[in-house]
Amino acid sequence: MVRRQCIMVFCCILSLVCSAGLGFAGAHGGPAAKKVGILLVAFGSSEESAQVSFANIDKKVKATYPDIPVRWAYTSNIIREKLAGQGKELDSPEVALAKMSDEGFTDVAVQSLHTIGGAEFHDLMEIVSGFKMMGAFHSIIPGLPLLGTQDDMKKTVAALQAVIPKERKKDEAVVFMGHGTHHPANGFYAALNFQVQLEDPNIFIGTVEGYPDLELIKSLLKRNKIKKVYLMPFMSVAGDHAKNDMASEEEDSWKSTLTKAGYTCVPILKGTAEFSPFTDIWVSHLKGPLSHFK
Ligand code: CO
Repeated sequence: MVRRQCIMVFCCILSLVCSAGLGFAGAHGGPAAKKVGILLVAFGSSEESAQVSFANIDKKVKATYPDIPVRWAYTSNIIREKLAGQGKELDSPEVALAKMSDEGFTDVAVQSLHTIGGAEFHDLMEIVSGFKMMGAFHSIIPGLPLLGTQDDMKKTVAALQAVIPKERKKDEAVVFMGHGTHHPANGFYAALNFQVQLEDPNIFIGTVEGYPDLELIKSLLKRNKIKKVYLMPFMSVAGDHAKNDMASEEEDSWKSTLTKAGYTCVPILKGTAEFSPFTDIWVSHLKGPLSHFK
């Protein structure tokens, strides 16, 4: 599956770059004029409310680097197809990069807006490697997702504490809902849960599709004798998972499950990218790649 995708990616890139008669050297063989660009790459979301998160990051990146053009791409095929059905054209990373090569960009920072370095992030790294191998740019350098280094973990712990509701009392829990994955990088969620609990034992990181799951979180809430729980997404956008799996009245939502177990639940529908302490971390990851282009 991955191999087939790769072949398709390369055919797509080659045809786009070749048909444009471009490549880093430029059509006349001379050195291309330096043109630095930023490509922001998110999983994507088809929810209207999620656009707040993307607009917030876009604003922050443009304010930090006012002279550098910013482009966007979504990694999710399903989301892009859904949006195309609504008349909204969003590029995949490979198409966005081919267009940037066509536009004469020479040095591109590809910033992942993912939360962990999971499957989507690693697919993106393969695309970046492909463009590097083809010599489509003088340089193309990726930026790490939110949880990249131990320093990011520390900053994320501080960000989690900064965004929880002011009215929340210390004996009330805050449960963040991460996505979770089959990818080995899923371990970041448990690591973050451990590190946030060193600061505040009533803040928890759970996941919808990985570990720690809701059953485990439930047992930890019981152990800590919690009565009230604030539910917040640990995803860049408050999209489908936050609305349906976390906050909805559906029988198996986190809110319904915990309410049934006797907890008072207060869901908060705000993605991490709506808050500066998180967006600052993503934006800080552009500094390294961009410093190479000077
Ligand atoms: Co999902």
